[in-house]
Amino acid sequence: MTGLLDGKVVIVAGLGGIGNGLARRYADEGALLVIGDLDAELATRVATELDPSGDRVRGVALDGADEASVAGIVELAVGGFGRLDGMHLNFTNASDAYLPGGVVDLPLEAFDEVMRVNTRGFVICAKQAIPPMVDAGGGSIVFTASIDAYNGASTRVSYQMSKAAELALMRHIARKYGPKGIRCNAIAPGLIWHYKFDQNPMPDGVVEQTRARQMIKSRFGKPEDVAALGALLLSDDGSFITAQTISVDGGVTFRP
Ligand SMILES: NC(=O)c1ccc[n+]([C@@H]2O[C@H](COP(=O)([O-])OP(=O)(O)OC[C@H]3O[C@@H](n4cnc5c(N)ncnc54)[C@H](O)[C@@H]3O)[C@@H](O)[C@H]2O)c1
Repeated sequence: MTGLLDGKVVIVAGLGGIGNGLARRYADEGALLVIGDLDAELATRVATELDPSGDRVRGVALDGADEASVAGIVELAVGGFGRLDGMHLNFTNASDAYLPGGVVDLPLEAFDEVMRVNTRGFVICAKQAIPPMVDAGGGSIVFTASIDAYNGASTRVSYQMSKAAELALMRHIARKYGPKGIRCNAIAPGLIWHYKFDQNPMPDGVVEQTRARQMIKSRFGKPEDVAALGALLLSDDGSFITAQTISVDGGVTFRP
């Protein structure tokens, strides 16, 4: 690793398959990290694995859809490390991800829950993170969105809509707070294979269909692929990149 994030104070909100990989790469690049997840045990375990001393990586319980909880993790970063330079919003609620139906069959409770976490939650995180970043002279916010935001799918309509809303929020942040030194970008992954897919196989045909749509046939995406782009976007090497949605999907989508 090259010390891309040396000394930068970064929050990773949402761990798990991709998020654990983000935390690992950012720690390896020298960031001072506060990592949070609804699953508190996961957050503390990953933090201890990355930094047993707790001096450079701290893991906490986080509900990214709860304002007090988000204020708490921001305060931990600013109070503990002196400022906030970056935040990667990676958590997601996928209440309708595995429901077979379309909008006609959609339980509205699932829709409300996906929107509460993915859309309202990202708004809450932005409200809490931007002021201390402006105080620090600027910062970088990265969203993990999805190619589902612009690539229609016949199921998971709430999830798709929430990801499209995240892109709108990303562009708003870039335009409104760019003059104050805030950059904001979204990573749109395709299929990123991780440990949860090993534990819970996908429905029949999904793997084959995804491979057929990828231009890169030799493998699926890995958390490291998302983390590599996240590290660039959080770093000073990415300092002229803002308001972008960048796909990490092996060529499933072609966008201008
Ligand atoms: N894996 C893929 O193929 C893929 C593809 C496209 C987009 N994505 C996106 O990548 C991100 C990570 O997905 P993943 O595949 O690693 O899933 P994952 O389920 O492993 O990780 C999601 C994490 O979010 C946490 N979480 C849920 N609600 C939360 C809340 N309110 N507050 C804090 N944490 C909360 C969960 O506990 C979990 O650890 C998501 O935004 C997802 O939409 C993933």
